[in-house]
Amino acid sequence: MAKVKMVPGIWGALTATEALTGEQIREKAADLLSQMSLSEKIHQMSGDTPLVPGTVEMQLAYNKRPYPAGENFRLGIPGIRFTDGPRGVVMSASTCFPVTMGRGATWDIELEERVGDAIGVEARSQGANYFGGVCINLLRHPAWGRAQETYGEDPFHLGEMGASLVRGIQRHVMACIKHFAANSIENTRFKVDVRLCERALHEVYLPHFKRCVDEGAVSVMSAYNKVNKEHCGHNAYLLRDILKEQWGFEGFVISDFLLGIRDTHAAITGGLDIEMPFAWHYGKKLKKIVESGQVPESLIDDAVFRILKQKVRFAQIGEHERYGLQQVACREHRVLAREVAQKSIVLLKNDDIPETGNPILPIDKSKIKRLAVIGRLAAAENIGDKGSSMVRPPYVVTPLEGISKAAGNGVEIQFDNGRDINSAVKTTCNTDAAIIVVGYTHRQEGENIPFSPNGGDRDSLSLTRHDEILIQAVSAQNSNTVVILVGGSAIITESWRDGIPAIIMAWYPGMEGGHAIADVLFGDVNPSGKLPSVFPKSKDQLPFFDKKAKSIEYDLYHGYRLMDKNDYESAFAFGYGLSYTTFTYSNLQLAQSEIDLDGYLQVSVEVTNSGGIAGDEIVQLYVGCERSKVDRPVKELKGFVKKRLDPGETGQIEFTVPAKNLAYYDEDRSDWVVESTDYRVYVGSSSLVNDLPGKRFYIRGN
Ligand code: BGC
Repeated sequence: MAKVKMVPGIWGALTATEALTGEQIREKAADLLSQMSLSEKIHQMSGDTPLVPGTVEMQLAYNKRPYPAGENFRLGIPGIRFTDGPRGVVMSASTCFPVTMGRGATWDIELEERVGDAIGVEARSQGANYFGGVCINLLRHPAWGRAQETYGEDPFHLGEMGASLVRGIQRHVMACIKHFAANSIENTRFKVDVRLCERALHEVYLPHFKRCVDEGAVSVMSAYNKVNKEHCGHNAYLLRDILKEQWGFEGFVISDFLLGIRDTHAAITGGLDIEMPFAWHYGKKLKKIVESGQVPESLIDDAVFRILKQKVRFAQIGEHERYGLQQVACREHRVLAREVAQKSIVLLKNDDIPETGNPILPIDKSKIKRLAVIGRLAAAENIGDKGSSMVRPPYVVTPLEGISKAAGNGVEIQFDNGRDINSAVKTTCNTDAAIIVVGYTHRQEGENIPFSPNGGDRDSLSLTRHDEILIQAVSAQNSNTVVILVGGSAIITESWRDGIPAIIMAWYPGMEGGHAIADVLFGDVNPSGKLPSVFPKSKDQLPFFDKKAKSIEYDLYHGYRLMDKNDYESAFAFGYGLSYTTFTYSNLQLAQSEIDLDGYLQVSVEVTNSGGIAGDEIVQLYVGCERSKVDRPVKELKGFVKKRLDPGETGQIEFTVPAKNLAYYDEDRSDWVVESTDYRVYVGSSSLVNDLPGKRFYIRGN
């Protein structure tokens, strides 16, 4: 095993004795920098894990301890101590939350901040001071193997959710947003060249990174792929011009692990500050090119100053009474994991049963005697990918366990793993309803790790033929069939959807997932999740994707933007999800029908809970530019609010959208331009916005 000696205490000699102002932090960092030799400075810029035993250790026990970078014993400066995520902390027996895509389906920024807080506490309690798991890559195509690690397809939604996670984490440790940028093909991630025009880059693939930088994220991880011919870890346009100069990012950039840097000179001039997790291209090689004058020492000073500033700053941050191993997977965090799983579940379909005239869900326990639970995934501890994001919780509640416990003694559960379809059909005989759990595991989708059986990009967007036949056979036997889908992103349901009265998307729901699924099935929780990406009818409705691509072009259109442009009808729209109650939209009002270029659009709408039980509604606001000089999407998400309403209650929902958020990126001027023209605002329960007619407004020119 690789031995890494650590400076004692997470913050070593930097541990705060008193709070420092921003100016004092800069002074302290500058003072430390001035005391360092060139070797010491360069040492700040790479991982401390020795290359050879480190590689072996990583193969045997990846991510089981924090990976330090830049420990300086002479000055008592600790390294950054990297741990990973995003569905929890990857070390020891941490809390496993639902995957990020499921959390995206909550649209709940306050909840996501609480997840960040819990992750921050658990990371710090296990000796880390840096969390590398804020993945905010945009989901361009559902076949992307790591789809589950991000929040969805929309830059605004991604930015808000990511910023919330950053807020929570950074109460305790540094947060790293990744993978910068346009990382959304897994199998060729080390070489694919993603070609984008300036508009696609700035309008679609970067806004969420900017949002998290504005929120104060102190670190960015460069992606493995190339953007416009240049590796992201060497990409001066991305790292220096956009991130550090245009956006004023004061933090530091780390490489993705191992192959994130290919060339010493290109990386340092490109703006990459720390090579992880070894000194391979940096270390001695970097020192040599500085000493030979190929690279000015000022570049090293800039990188190290960035790193030191954040170390000094974070050494003062924290809630010390909250750290300790007893916090790891503590009761409070497990309860939170269950709440998040409950809120991530999306009810896709819930038809009425002809005999009763009522929807099939929720299942009334008092009215049933026997319940069939079918499918190998019903009894599987299936919490998602087993790559760098793998969390090892102390236990996992499977759907079967959750359903059995919640059903209680009055209901007999009949389980069949579904491998033999005849046996599954037999199991279903004489039951009052059948729950089928189907979908994916880490074998069909996930990180592409060489020589491992992990999934990588998906081969198919549908269920296996076996599972489709299983669904059809079981539902032919028992029409009260509920299908629970497990997976990291969209699943095509065309061949069987019409015959099934109820469908639930459960994502990979984390360690408490089985309980959360049961909570929704039996109506202890009213589902409120909404899809953070389109579920298409066929792959022809999606942009071109090739898991073998060495080069690919990304443009302005994917997801609901592409659906709108081509007037396609999806199976389930972006932003869609049902509840056990109903919501009615009315009285859409704009405070002004004309605003200035630097003004604000103020919108209000009334939403009424018109059903019989309390529920949460995710109210979405979209804006479309009606007469633009350039090609623009029909509409784009510009706001959302989650509101709890009691039966009969009407809530007034307000949105404020700055006109500058409606700009497009002008490639000739290399700047954002707010057009003086007509726009239309839509508010609704999904991206179909068919609850109310949209309202026009005008932005006045100067
Ligand atoms: C992944 C990163 C991860 C890193 C360290 C890489 O292979 O792409 O997302 O943070 O490993 O675990």
